[in-house]
Amino acid sequence: MLAMDRIGTRSKRILCGLLPLMLCATARAEPAKGAAPRERLLADGGWRFHLGNEWGSAQNLAKAGSGYGPASPEFSDASWRRVDLPHDWAVELPFDRKAEPSHGFKALGDGFPQNNVGWYRRTFELPKHDAGRRIWLEFDGVFRDCTVFVNGWFVGHHESGYDSFRYDVTDVLRAGEKNVVAVRVDASQSEGWFYEGAGIYRHVWLVKVSPLAIAPDGVFVYSSFKNNLPVGAASIHLQTKLTNAGARAAQATVVWTIVGPDGKAAAKVSRAANVAARSSLDLEETARLAAPALWSPETPRLYRVVTSVTNAGKATDEVTTELGIRTVAFDPDKGFLLNGKPYVIKGSCNHQDHAGVGSALPDRLQYFRVAKLKEMGSNAYRTAHNPPTPELLEACDRLGMLVMDENRLLGSDSSHLGGSEAWVRRDRNHPSVAMWSLANEEWTVQGTPLGRQVAVTLQEAVKRMDPSRPVTYAAPMGNEFVGINEIIEVRGWNYHVGKDMDAYHAAHPRQPNVGSEQGSTVSTRGIYSNDKQRGYVSAYDDNATPWSSTAKQWWGFFDERPWLSGGFIWTGFDYRGEPTPYSWPCISSHFGVLDTCGFPKDNFWNYRSWWTEQPVLHLVPHWTWPKNEGQEIDVRALSNCDEVELFLNGKSLGRQTVKRASELKWSVSYRPGVLSAKGYRQGQVVAEDRIETTGAPMAVRLAPDRTDLKADGEDLAIVAVSVVDDRGRVVPVASNAIVFKLEGPGRIIGVGNGDPSSHEPDKYVAGPTLRTRALDNWRWKKVADSYAPNLPEVAANFDDSLWKKADVGGTRGPLTADERAVFRTRFTVSAEDLAASGVELWFGKIDGDGAVFLNGQKVARTGDARAPSVFDLKAWLHTGENSVAVTLANWGEAAGLNQGVQLRLVDPPGPTQWRRSVFNGLAQVLIQTTGESGTIHLTAESKALEPTTTTITSKVTERRPYLP
Ligand code: GAL
Repeated sequence: MLAMDRIGTRSKRILCGLLPLMLCATARAEPAKGAAPRERLLADGGWRFHLGNEWGSAQNLAKAGSGYGPASPEFSDASWRRVDLPHDWAVELPFDRKAEPSHGFKALGDGFPQNNVGWYRRTFELPKHDAGRRIWLEFDGVFRDCTVFVNGWFVGHHESGYDSFRYDVTDVLRAGEKNVVAVRVDASQSEGWFYEGAGIYRHVWLVKVSPLAIAPDGVFVYSSFKNNLPVGAASIHLQTKLTNAGARAAQATVVWTIVGPDGKAAAKVSRAANVAARSSLDLEETARLAAPALWSPETPRLYRVVTSVTNAGKATDEVTTELGIRTVAFDPDKGFLLNGKPYVIKGSCNHQDHAGVGSALPDRLQYFRVAKLKEMGSNAYRTAHNPPTPELLEACDRLGMLVMDENRLLGSDSSHLGGSEAWVRRDRNHPSVAMWSLANEEWTVQGTPLGRQVAVTLQEAVKRMDPSRPVTYAAPMGNEFVGINEIIEVRGWNYHVGKDMDAYHAAHPRQPNVGSEQGSTVSTRGIYSNDKQRGYVSAYDDNATPWSSTAKQWWGFFDERPWLSGGFIWTGFDYRGEPTPYSWPCISSHFGVLDTCGFPKDNFWNYRSWWTEQPVLHLVPHWTWPKNEGQEIDVRALSNCDEVELFLNGKSLGRQTVKRASELKWSVSYRPGVLSAKGYRQGQVVAEDRIETTGAPMAVRLAPDRTDLKADGEDLAIVAVSVVDDRGRVVPVASNAIVFKLEGPGRIIGVGNGDPSSHEPDKYVAGPTLRTRALDNWRWKKVADSYAPNLPEVAANFDDSLWKKADVGGTRGPLTADERAVFRTRFTVSAEDLAASGVELWFGKIDGDGAVFLNGQKVARTGDARAPSVFDLKAWLHTGENSVAVTLANWGEAAGLNQGVQLRLVDPPGPTQWRRSVFNGLAQVLIQTTGESGTIHLTAESKALEPTTTTITSKVTERRPYLP
């Protein structure tokens, strides 16, 4: 076929069709009555998803507005699965031993082409009164390599799986009509060496603004104090970029109103300027706040800056930005300084994924995870090794957590600088962000002059975008002052605990330092001996990778050296992939202090005892060893008390003095019963712990983290599942399989148990099912002009009985070069057929250019000769006999209808049965509201165990604005 010729003919017609709409698009610039001048609508709901690369050719990049297959607005996605974002299809895939270990053995990437490409489609109506507004389509992040089409127009291609990006799609949208966004995502290529997910795994937004508006990420607010010490008044720097997309100059006034944490207006400043037509302008002002309330992880006080814009006195835009007033700095001797005082970084590095949902986390889960880390005493989070989703930063701002915000790949060419600029502009208002990291472990280049040069350029670019924060690089280097280390503002230390650090500091005493990545201690929750076969590592703080250290080792070293600033553990949470020190059947890492669900491993209490002041006492291991009677058990107490005394069944086994950053050990001959301990400070008992020998599993228990949810379609209950004995004690060795049933306005979105070797699914998903019928008895006839308007041969009742019979099951149609034809057939549908949720016409291949007519009405154009065409017929069908006609123009060698035609009845998905085993007594279920209010009942059952039901209420609430 000569695809280009055919496309040319078709495109001309489409462009003509769109012209009147584009002209009227400049007619009005008014939002609906009562609507704010800016609307930011969450566009997460109502997507359709298809896994597979049948429509590679849909990416018709040759001609505008002519995307094929799913990219075309006429394509039917009725048989695709409904999904709400965020969505990660990788977590739905099976584990496969042949897949990449570092990505968690998911059947994705090399060797799994059938799973690497996914398509998303979203149809929505744009109200008529939106004509004249500018419309931006914003993606917080898509993994990865995605191509975006709007109404068949190719609007953009974005490769990175970690950037946020947006398109101004104003001109290709149709106000007052249906619009279709189609996104092709290709996850064949990875970017990291860890689980990364696949799909639109972060939020999507539709933003509507007036022609005079604040530019995307156009507000920058930050505070500063004289000498960078928070004494006296703070200067609040207010910068706003305005864009004027209108055809006339605008008389703009920007007013910045600062509202205090108490809700009272604290300051107001303004600036006026003329913004020329079709241009942008930066405006700047400074406000002063005497004795402001400071932000810190312990006191996360937030101001709000409301930036309002008027055009000749009429409100045209408003954006609210949260502001935390604090100072950050690094001192070569004192380490990190927060608000002018030494502040030890007690941080953790984390990847993005969580049990049950992969990398597609509802916002609530970000808050849950940050809160868990805070419980451990942590005050800092490194977004290893990529820019995070904005909602993580929001959680850190609000809950109080410092952030090392990390770039993905080192680079300073114009493309990388553009990406880095977008990253810094997006994140620089967050008070939680305390430092930028240019990259992590760039082995090949970090020690070279080129690496150094690239880092110089990138560091300068970051500083230009944000003069208020320090910059580091996560260097896996010892005492090596070469390459990036020579020029980086703050020396980052990945590993190399020990004399290298001291020697480096002595040789370069003016360069500040931070432990960018430490630990890599490996452990499995509730396991107390290494087991290579099953892929478990003991949870005693004894095992680390050869390049790293136990928790005690690194923290003991850092704790004694304030100039190191503290550091970030590798990692806070377990993540999928990197099953170090093992491989299959292990599918997730052992590095976390918490497992993939957020259940703490024993090291959680080590850190908590070192990182908080509150008395901590935690005994390791558990005390249920039925086969080990009389054997010596390695017992440890993790504590920050002065002394700890251990008792077995009430009898003292001795008192020991606690040393800094260490554990206390006893060897105890096992007897069932109660192992308990008392922690003393200045002779007084301030903490106690006890572990008991449990009985056999008796019952299931469910404990939601919250029982009142907002009925907003987003809120989440994180439910802990446990198996208990007859006295309600969690059985630490239980592995029972649990089945979950849910009733009410909620849905299970994922299950997990923290077992690094579990191959049980995290998701149970089902798509619509199909009943297909071959559509035969086609006839065809040559016509002079298949494009002629009102072609009689496509009419509903046209008599085609004398036409030639057509075989539509072959691979080469009957039309020869330059011929034009019409193909026709008839079929009958019943009322029952029409009751299906979708009725589609599926063509294996329409080889030729033309249109499909149903009962005489044009329902779709055709033209994709390389892949199946699918159209939704439901709106045009009636019970009884229907006729279908296809016009074809052959611009190539042979043409016709090939590879079969089917009628496809689409039925809704059947019910799904969610299940998961507990791992060492525990599992987790994530329940999301559907958006309706009411009572949700979650029941957990297991063979031979007493079942249980928990009740969660989903309460009416105002939803944040969303795309209907
Ligand atoms: C580091 C690397 C991390 C992770 C870790 C495992 O070198 O930066 O991403 O792979 O090793 O120990």
